[in-house]
Amino acid sequence: MKLDINGQVREVDADPDMPLLWAIRDVVGLTGTKFGCGMAQCGACTVHQDGVAIRSCITPISDVEGTKITTIEGVNGKVAEAVQAAWTQLDVPQCGYCQSGQVMAATALLTDNPKPTDADIDAAMSGNLCRCATYHRIRAGIHEAAKMLG
Ligand code: FES
Ligand code: FES
Repeated sequence: MKLDINGQVREVDADPDMPLLWAIRDVVGLTGTKFGCGMAQCGACTVHQDGVAIRSCITPISDVEGTKITTIEGVNGKVAEAVQAAWTQLDVPQCGYCQSGQVMAATALLTDNPKPTDADIDAAMSGNLCRCATYHRIRAGIHEAAKMLG
């Protein structure tokens, strides 16, 4: 099966039911996307499918053939750069484990909604859990990125 990951087409020789997260980490070797719960409950595995945030732990690779997958290693453009700059400026991560998922979710949110309210942020980010409870910095980081984007 051919998967387009970060603009590169990769031949993935695996069962079509394999979760995309497994393919990304174990077959392709991109380990920035994390395994948390494996049940669509935590957001650690968030990647983009054609720019939309998805849970790669419950998405079979057969569902993404012919679409563009972006992981934390490949996300780019002005929104992603603003999110990453804001994350650095505000020192958002603590242990870091959830943060690639947070950055992917925040980038998808700001691409869709350049000036999100606190309620918009809570609605979009509520499925991305953080054991270190960095939620207030995540929210501040999203507002800061929105400001950078003007
Ligand atoms: S690992 Fe996918 S949502 Fe938790
Ligand atoms: S920074 Fe540690 S889990 Fe979120």
